Amino acid sequence: MIAISTVIWALTILVYHHAQGDPSYEIQITEIKSISDNKEYVDPVELSAGTSTISIKSTVKKEVPQDAICETLFYKNVDGNFKKSPIGIAAAPCCEVMFENELFKRIMENQNVPKACPFTPGTYSVENYALDTSKHKNPPRGEYRANFTASLPSEGIIYGVLLTFSIVDKA
Ligand SMILES: *[C@@H]1O[C@H](CO)[C@@H](O)[C@H](O)[C@H]1NC(C)=O
Repeated sequence: MIAISTVIWALTILVYHHAQGDPSYEIQITEIKSISDNKEYVDPVELSAGTSTISIKSTVKKEVPQDAICETLFYKNVDGNFKKSPIGIAAAPCCEVMFENELFKRIMENQNVPKACPFTPGTYSVENYALDTSKHKNPPRGEYRANFTASLPSEGIIYGVLLTFSIVDKA
């Protein structure tokens, strides 16, 4: 479930380019991976990607305390170096981010994810989620990286996903 969040980052980057009509671009995912060593709370069972879809399965092993903080940082590849982008989702309690953010709410509607806080033990998944390009027009082309983390003040990062993708002209 926390995993779902990953998707958002890719979407957020497009929010700055509201428009109607057919997008002239597509998203190509190159890598998705876990960046957390701490599996006490969440086990990132599966992270996989198709060309433009992601699948995430995670097992919450222990109820996640409500002071968990979620943050998403965006980077854009500039001349071979990933530079931090001002676009992102500021650090805030995960429960707020997951249930009050419009994009998250939309994604979570149709997936096997927790529907309430706190996040209780269980296995959750997002299957073949296609990054939505229908609502946004003409974002800057290039390679991006989204770094989603959930952290506890006492434990550091308890769940983290790094997604690398490119925005390219539609073939
Ligand atoms: C991801 O974000 C976390 C927390 O802000 C940071 O500690 C980590 O170094 C970042 N990792 C990458 C690969 O950007």
